[in-house]
Amino acid sequence: MSNKIVKLDKLTINKIAAGEVIERPASVVKELVENSIDAQSRKITINIQEGGKKTVEVIDDGMGMESNDARLSINRHTTSKINNADDLFSIHSLGFRGEALASIVSVAQVEIITKTEESDLGIHLVIEGGEIVSDKQASAPKGTLISVKNLFFNVPVRRKFLKTTSTEVNHITEYVTKLALANPSISFTLTHNGKDILTAPKGDLIAQITAIFGENIARACLPINKKENDYTVTGFITKPEFSRKSKDYLYIFVNGRAVTNKVISEAVLRGYGTSVPHNRYPIIFLYFDLPPDEVDVNVHPTKKEIRFSNEAKVYALIESATRESLEKSGLKLFETVTETRHKPTTLTSIETKSLESSKKKLPVSVSPRERPDYTIVKSKEQRIDKFLPITDKNIELLEKSFERKKSIRVLGIIKDTYIVAETQEGLFLCDQHAAHEKINYEKYIRQIKKKSVSIQQLLAPVSVTLKPSEFEIIESIKENLKSFGFEIEIFGKNEILIRSIPAIMGVTIEFNSAKDMIDIFKTNVSEIKEKLDLEDLGFIKEIVSIFACRRSIKAGDKITLDRAELLLKELLELEEPFACPHGRPTIIILNEKYIEELFKRDYR
Ligand SMILES: Nc1ncnc2c1ncn2[C@@H]1O[C@H](COP(=O)(O)OP(=O)(O)OP(=O)(O)O)[C@@H](O)[C@H]1O
Ligand SMILES: [Mg+2]
Repeated sequence: MSNKIVKLDKLTINKIAAGEVIERPASVVKELVENSIDAQSRKITINIQEGGKKTVEVIDDGMGMESNDARLSINRHTTSKINNADDLFSIHSLGFRGEALASIVSVAQVEIITKTEESDLGIHLVIEGGEIVSDKQASAPKGTLISVKNLFFNVPVRRKFLKTTSTEVNHITEYVTKLALANPSISFTLTHNGKDILTAPKGDLIAQITAIFGENIARACLPINKKENDYTVTGFITKPEFSRKSKDYLYIFVNGRAVTNKVISEAVLRGYGTSVPHNRYPIIFLYFDLPPDEVDVNVHPTKKEIRFSNEAKVYALIESATRESLEKSGLKLFETVTETRHKPTTLTSIETKSLESSKKKLPVSVSPRERPDYTIVKSKEQRIDKFLPITDKNIELLEKSFERKKSIRVLGIIKDTYIVAETQEGLFLCDQHAAHEKINYEKYIRQIKKKSVSIQQLLAPVSVTLKPSEFEIIESIKENLKSFGFEIEIFGKNEILIRSIPAIMGVTIEFNSAKDMIDIFKTNVSEIKEKLDLEDLGFIKEIVSIFACRRSIKAGDKITLDRAELLLKELLELEEPFACPHGRPTIIILNEKYIEELFKRDYR
């Protein structure tokens, strides 16, 4: 019988391993640039073509490699950065596994040109399928150039899964942004198809922030600085009003490595207290340094995740550092967010209690099963007959739905929030803000479907500075956004002008809403490009709710009874009037039978 188990060849082993380290062109950029940083470069240039799918080229002026080292570098587990397992617990370099180059050469066509200070000539290697196919001496400046072409050319399945060019460019730009912020003393340049995307000259951190994010954000920066034993926090946080809808502006660096880490981000949010609303995130550039043996970076193949040996200590330091930084800048002390929410007394509890105590007096006790429904109406299909004792008269009434609209009588508005009305069905409560949001949403969807979104030209166009990764994305969807009523003009290197918005959203747009809109566009690129199922575009719901929050009738706004009546009529004309775009109810009906029960009139 032949053997079933065979030893895989070197290329196959490396291709499998590459699956973990090299997911996409951005991973190639990350690995190559990290190598350049480890090689003490001062200037790093990254040139990519077709979102890195065609070429990723990284050129540095670092220490370079001797010929033999260069040949060895593409083998698995060859590294100059650690010698043995003990070194794993005190890692000072970004690389340490000796895997990156081996992985890259197994899934792409690679060339390396490198020279050290000491050698007169450099070496030029051409590698294909993981093997060196050309090995020559070459004159070259000190440093290293690595070019990676046709990523995944020999792994078609992976190549197929690569995202669109703009998505890949966005990932790469975001990585380079992080690497630049982590290393202000190094100058970074990123180009795509020959066009400059990001230039971060070397200098101090604030110079980097200004170059990448623009002056507005740089001006909003508040220094954060705290040291406790051998833990230090430095960097900048920004004023709470600069908060964003997305987490993309939480730049966290631990021992020089960009990471996402919940302990740190939650500690920062807690430090901000209630000054940053729920579900929003401040812009931060936070650098946390601690002894290498108190952090484990070897948790995940891409090293993005880390673990602290003393999380509580990290949390406490970051939280207090954040709070102190805000206080020092003259911002008043904010109450910290508490987890508990006010719990309303539930109707069931009142019911049981009152029923218990008055049991004896009630001639017939009502068993829960027989109780009439008290329900939130969710759709027109959910026939009102469910709420009413069925009589012929009612059914007739339901059939002519317009009758319902006619029969609404607004009684008043409570707390400037809920419209109270009387209808055939009973007592009718309507959340005025949700109702208005729903009406606007439906109008907007109708216009988009008819391809006739009415547009409001802004008297004063709003200018927004974008970070480089956002800029690429917005540029790529600029044309698509027109059909949604947004006209955007590219203005300057990292700036856009919003020239028009859908008329339904008003005549002006605040700067903060504009920023939120960009965040929404950014996270919904495929929906915007492909206009998937219009009925369920999360993107439109989000856009409408931004404007709704600021524009539509808000809870707490005073409206006249006539206006309220109009609003209800408009709402009830919709196909699905009973829930706002986010699925929250707009209307609650307390039917007659339910009210009767509350008043214990059901002995009849
Ligand atoms: N740009 C460069 N300049 C100088 N030396 C380099 C450069 N790139 C790679 N090397 C050398 O090649 C070796 C292998 O690189 P590789 O990225 O595969 O592994 P690593 O950086 O040691 O570990 P990791 O797999 O964690 O990145 C490095 O240890 C380094 O000695
Ligand atoms: Mg490396």
